[in-house]
Amino acid sequence: MSQTAPEGKLALQTVPFPADTNGGGDIFGGWVLSQMDVAAGITSIERAQGRCATVAIEAMRFHAPVLVGDLFSVYTSIKKTGTTSMTIHVEAWVKRQSGGELLMVTEGDFTFVAIEASGVKRELPKPDS
Ligand SMILES: CC(C)(COP(=O)(O)OP(=O)(O)OC[C@H]1O[C@@H](n2cnc3c(N)ncnc32)[C@H](O)[C@@H]1OP(=O)(O)O)[C@@H](O)C(=O)NCCC(=O)NCCS
Repeated sequence: MSQTAPEGKLALQTVPFPADTNGGGDIFGGWVLSQMDVAAGITSIERAQGRCATVAIEAMRFHAPVLVGDLFSVYTSIKKTGTTSMTIHVEAWVKRQSGGELLMVTEGDFTFVAIEASGVKRELPKPDS
């Protein structure tokens, strides 16, 4: 993994707690995935100007562990839009408590569908100019 800087815009930032660890003492992959889903969800709501649902998660790759106390940041970029759906590339990066460079820990492609309040899919609005 040779990428040295995040791609996209900062959508979420947090710090994991000891309660988020797995048996090995690292942060549980499900916690990482859920933060990335929340970040992509925020981006999807902005683009769709309303409610959206996750329909697919693909190309997930866990490059490095997340540690308690890391500054955990999620960056999103919309890669593709269709009639009702959008695919968002999501990257999670950390800065260790001990310092050092930003490090990409996880990436994946999340697809969301714009939905009505009832849960039925709806067309994406035109992008803001
Ligand atoms: C999202 C949902 C409303 C879509 O309704 P649907 O009638 O099944 O929709 P379709 O199969 O016609 O697909 C809608 C769009 O999603 C895309 N899509 C569907 N499945 C996909 C997949 N596996 N990967 C990528 N895109 C997909 C379709 O290509 C289509 O895109 P487009 O309109 O831009 O061309 C419905 O599937 C749903 O409610 N799913 C559950 C969502 C949910 O609970 N998410 C939380 C998970 S924890």
